[in-house]
Amino acid sequence: MYRGRTTLSKFLIEQLHEVTDDGQLAGLLIDVAAAVKTIAAMTAKGGLGGYLGAIDNTNVQGEVQKKLDVLANDAVIGSCEWGGMLAGMLSEELEDPYAIPAEYKRGRYLLNFDPLDGSSNIDVNVSVGTIFSVLVHDKETAPDTADFLQIGRRQIAAGYAIYGPATMLVLTVGKGTHGFTLDREVGNFILTHPDLMIPADTSEFAINTSNERFWEPPITRYVDECKAGKTGVRGRDFNMRWIASMVADVHRILMRGGVFMYPRDTKDPSKPGRLRLLYEANPIGFIIEQAGGAASFGRGPILDHPAQSPHQRVPVILGSKNEVERIERYHAEYDAGTDKPYASPLFQERSLYRSEA
Ligand code: F6P
Ligand code: MN
Repeated sequence: MYRGRTTLSKFLIEQLHEVTDDGQLAGLLIDVAAAVKTIAAMTAKGGLGGYLGAIDNTNVQGEVQKKLDVLANDAVIGSCEWGGMLAGMLSEELEDPYAIPAEYKRGRYLLNFDPLDGSSNIDVNVSVGTIFSVLVHDKETAPDTADFLQIGRRQIAAGYAIYGPATMLVLTVGKGTHGFTLDREVGNFILTHPDLMIPADTSEFAINTSNERFWEPPITRYVDECKAGKTGVRGRDFNMRWIASMVADVHRILMRGGVFMYPRDTKDPSKPGRLRLLYEANPIGFIIEQAGGAASFGRGPILDHPAQSPHQRVPVILGSKNEVERIERYHAEYDAGTDKPYASPLFQERSLYRSEA
């Protein structure tokens, strides 16, 4: 029954056979997968595990930490620090990079991660995830903060786990995007979704519209056009979904297409976006590009966005290629002063209607 199934280890051995690192990258990804299994077990216990709720602390982002944020962070560190594959780690939950303790061998990779993405959903039993990015550290010395600030294009592996009805691990080592499902009884990740490809076109978008008044005009233009549906310039109806777990929204887009936006907004002028570049936008951007989609900050590819600080935030627009390109065009037209977003008579009517209302 189990013959013919591709386990994560088998898959990594096949995909990474040309990488001359004594199996270190494969070993690291197996260790990450071990942490994912631990986190999956904790999230699956729900209210029975005593893991729900917040602790009396805020993280470096100013966000209230959930118990599971801290436990998931410990699971990743505990699983990955000892193997001799890593030179350091950077976590959403820690202000500074985590140095590998002196008792362990130091390796040539860096791991940036968000241990529990979407953790506001934990207490309401909605899907959450773990996101990770692997970079090369090709120096003898221990990494300092600047060594983590690499552009996304330099990632050599990235992935996420989604703790949903099934636990899945989706990853790329730069040879396509592939999905594995956790066989809980056996404890193995099995390749169930090889070579994921995002359809170039879509009629589904994801954005938190409660922020609408803070958006830039190109985003308002795009969303207004989607909402106008058949009666507007797009000539077809769109559907909207928002789970508020980036991993879960991205997973849906990988499965059936769509566009996800957490754009630049003016809600908090010190934050040019909500999502963090190094352990959210970059790894997800890599996965999306490897699945034939596009990942943009509105004015260029996320993977080329300069990294300036460990917890820096960036605007994120990603998913089906043709839609992302359209939104980039709207930004370009807006920046050049050539957009006429409400030129269509229908939009004129809508705005008139609005001002009367
Ligand atoms: O990690 C940040 C995050 O939780 C994402 O997973 C999610 O997409 C977003 O924030 C949700 O933001 P909001 O609470 O504004 O909907
Ligand atoms: Mn997150």
